[in-house]
Amino acid sequence: LPFWVVIPAAGVGSRMQADRPKQYLPLGDRALIEHTLDCFLGQPGLNGLVVCLAADDAWWPALACASDQRIQRAGGGRERADSVLSGLHKLTELGALDSDWVLVHDAARPHLAATDLHKLLDSLQDDPVGGLLAVPVRDTLKQADADGRVTATPDRSLFWQAYTPQMFRLGALRQALADALACGALITDEASAMERAGFAPRLIEGRADNIKVTRPEDMEWLTRLR
Ligand code: C5P
Repeated sequence: LPFWVVIPAAGVGSRMQADRPKQYLPLGDRALIEHTLDCFLGQPGLNGLVVCLAADDAWWPALACASDQRIQRAGGGRERADSVLSGLHKLTELGALDSDWVLVHDAARPHLAATDLHKLLDSLQDDPVGGLLAVPVRDTLKQADADGRVTATPDRSLFWQAYTPQMFRLGALRQALADALACGALITDEASAMERAGFAPRLIEGRADNIKVTRPEDMEWLTRLR
């Protein structure tokens, strides 16, 4: 199945308390984002890959992959949705059609299994909307007020964690993201923009170890997983 990839990598990663954005932290002998890119490069069906970088990003040029001709660059934006939108425009410049499939994947999620990538592509190739990798929540969920006092315990069997890649048609995703941004809606993933536009993305169950590096201890986990 032919597809394009957008990797938003313009975040600052403030929750990591590190000296650099989290996608540039070392994991083994390379930067985290290089492992993430490896999950896609060389995959059959890959039409092109765009990385969205902050304008003042001084880390990317130092990486070996910065000279890789298979990787195109786009600008980043204030919010994740701005960065992804910029990546989608770049894909159009590269010849992508509005009906083409685009996979959006976090730069900070370096442990995507090829089996999960193929499961996503195979499961959604004939889907009218698209969808995303997701994992059923394991823990009991609590809703709480601002003081940390529990106000409700929802039925956890209804809840999933949204992972990436998230896979949608280029034109529909661009429209959904642009509309959400224009309204100032809170959009933390591509699926929520699609939901706002009236679509129902499909969840494809993936592996729980496709984690997004968010806190310092996540790097220790990843080092052990490898
Ligand atoms: O902050 P969070 O962990 O949700 O970021 C998810 C991904 O979105 C990261 O790869 C980050 O670099 C990217 N991002 C971006 N532009 C922003 C904010 C986040 O590309 N303005």
